[in-house]
Amino acid sequence: MQESDAQKRIKKLRSEIVRLRNAYHIENAPNVTDDVYDSLTRELKALLQKHPELNDSNALENRVAGKALEKFIKVKHKIRMLSLNDAFNEEELYDWKKRIQKLLGSEKKLEYFCEIKFDGLAVSLIYKNGKFTQGATRGDGFVGEDITQNLRTINSIPLILNSLPTSPLSRGGDKVIPLDKGGFRGVAPEYLEVRGEAIMSKKTLSKLNLGNKREGKILFANTRNAAAGSLRQLDPKLAAKRHLDFFAYDIAEIKEAEPLLRGSASQLQTHSEKHAILRNLGFKVGALEAKCKNIEEIILFIKKFEKIRSNFPYGTDGIVIYIDDLKLQEILGVVGKAPRYVVAFKYPAERATTIVKDIKINVGRTGVLTPLAIFEPTLVAGSMVSKATLHNMDQIERLDLRIGDTVVIEKAGDVIPKVVEVLTRMRSGKEKKIKVPNICPVCGGKVEKKKLPSQTSVAYYCVNPKCSAKDERYLEHFVSVFEIYELGPKILRRLKDEGLITDAADLFTLTKDDFITLECLPHRKPETFLRGFGKKSAENIVKEIENKKHIPLSKFLWALGILHVGEETARDLAMHFGTLEKLIISARVVLAEINSIENIGPAVSKSVSNFFHDKNNLNFIQKLKKNGVIIEKMEKKKAGKFNGFTFVLTGALSNMSREIAKEKIIVLGGKVASSVSKNTSYVVAGIDPGSKLTTAEKLGVKVINEEEFLKML
Ligand code: IVH
Repeated sequence: MQESDAQKRIKKLRSEIVRLRNAYHIENAPNVTDDVYDSLTRELKALLQKHPELNDSNALENRVAGKALEKFIKVKHKIRMLSLNDAFNEEELYDWKKRIQKLLGSEKKLEYFCEIKFDGLAVSLIYKNGKFTQGATRGDGFVGEDITQNLRTINSIPLILNSLPTSPLSRGGDKVIPLDKGGFRGVAPEYLEVRGEAIMSKKTLSKLNLGNKREGKILFANTRNAAAGSLRQLDPKLAAKRHLDFFAYDIAEIKEAEPLLRGSASQLQTHSEKHAILRNLGFKVGALEAKCKNIEEIILFIKKFEKIRSNFPYGTDGIVIYIDDLKLQEILGVVGKAPRYVVAFKYPAERATTIVKDIKINVGRTGVLTPLAIFEPTLVAGSMVSKATLHNMDQIERLDLRIGDTVVIEKAGDVIPKVVEVLTRMRSGKEKKIKVPNICPVCGGKVEKKKLPSQTSVAYYCVNPKCSAKDERYLEHFVSVFEIYELGPKILRRLKDEGLITDAADLFTLTKDDFITLECLPHRKPETFLRGFGKKSAENIVKEIENKKHIPLSKFLWALGILHVGEETARDLAMHFGTLEKLIISARVVLAEINSIENIGPAVSKSVSNFFHDKNNLNFIQKLKKNGVIIEKMEKKKAGKFNGFTFVLTGALSNMSREIAKEKIIVLGGKVASSVSKNTSYVVAGIDPGSKLTTAEKLGVKVINEEEFLKML
């Protein structure tokens, strides 16, 4: 075939393959058999082999490129990926609105934007000059994993963006053409960060599970787990087979090559405009969305979607509601992990009945005994549920729960399921009561009823400090923080039982042969192991452990399992001290410094101090380091730009409440005082300022108006 003919044929093949793929992925209507699709793809490959000059790295067949990775590389998010606060009913929506209205001033007119909350995995996509360059998971919100190769296999993620259209709105400008009238600028944005959800459709999930069942593999409980599991594949060819989808929901940042004076994307004013821009750039954006004027309209939207939700092709767990105006969003800001300007409405929990087959007693990291109900597996809120924690022994008494009982279980979105009621009328008389054990079910040690300072209620504890269950739970916690996904609880227990490890630090010394001496890994079938499959998985585990030796200080502290030190507190400590050595000195010598950290109370600092006074803990840290764990320093929190400045606020502000203004000053390192003195740096004078203004003028303190203050912020 001549070069020009080949070129034409390749073009045809590409477009037909794209059409078939779209028919399959986007319209969910495969109108052609796999065989046809495969043979067209084969022809395309063969042609390209003959005419390598016609290769195009961004063409469809190159979506699945590259080799399996050794591990995912960490990427720091330029803009933190936040979470959402929830509202579980209408009243909570009204409360949300009330809080916002109070912060912004009651006369501020609010507009809202509602969209679907997809139940998948949050990802960030970066485009440079219109080309997809990097995609990452959310991770802890600050640092995620680079999964670009896998994301490239998702058809609904454009590899090349459409050119940037003009603003969706004509804001009084004369030359701006609205998007829906075909407005178009012809230049791709120089930089774009899109946020959205990678997700598997319900149909794809059931096909996948059907295949998995046939092959005796594990089934995915829901679309989210399936999406997350698929994107965690190191080999993009495997990820490609999962046929994922992507919906964009937000623009984190956009920079235009040549910003227009008016109506350009970088002058976006509302969240709804972001959606319009995303659509025009070539992204799939949720099909259902609405601008609402008040909570009543929002509730109508919520009810409308509720009717079709079970038939919706994708797993969803609620509605996301934004304050549409981006300026107001900025003023409202973020508290903790979640912004104030957006809320997730979660649909009421779903309930189902099932039978309690057994009640097991688990022993936790602190020795606490927690009963666990084991059910006949049943489907609730889109997930298979086969067990639920009963939280504490008292709950069994409160519910009068017995083995054999028929119970009502409830599951709300991603919240863990719980037993809400026992259907006592369903009893046959054969149900078995269970008693609080007086010895630990794991080690046989003494059980005592006590109340830990951190807990609000009493619970039963195994008081044997050497109880192996505590160690096991700790190991599970440790590997989960270190993200060593290959080491599940069963393998950990085997390693311990066989004496291959005595503590978590020993994990880093394990070799391939150690795993092979386990004869057969419990999650593999022995036959496959003997065929050499086990050897491969032993290699994978060792490789993964090796890859996880570098760990940021915040995670390391979290992994240590210090009482009261969870993920957030660990990060606060790490940001404050920067290195482990500095924290240890402070914990052992000058406790006052820990006490002074924002968000850290006396119970935490006492516990941190106790932890680092214990020789065993220090030895454990030494051992981890000796075995190759490298603790990465954290950048200390930078001094804010208001460091050393004291502000006094007087009069009402028109853009935000005094409360918010105060918070913003503090976040930037400044102080807010209630009266003016020589030490005041600025007096911010709003509408109707009081006597503070006169005092300021008398003392010669600088007075600024609201506009100047906003500029400083
Ligand atoms: S907005 C400020 N919009 O929900 C937080 N999130 O519970 C930005 N999600 O991690 C999130 N669909 O993975 C937003 N239309 C949507 C969403 C959505 C799904 C997920 C997202 C996020 C999680 C928070």
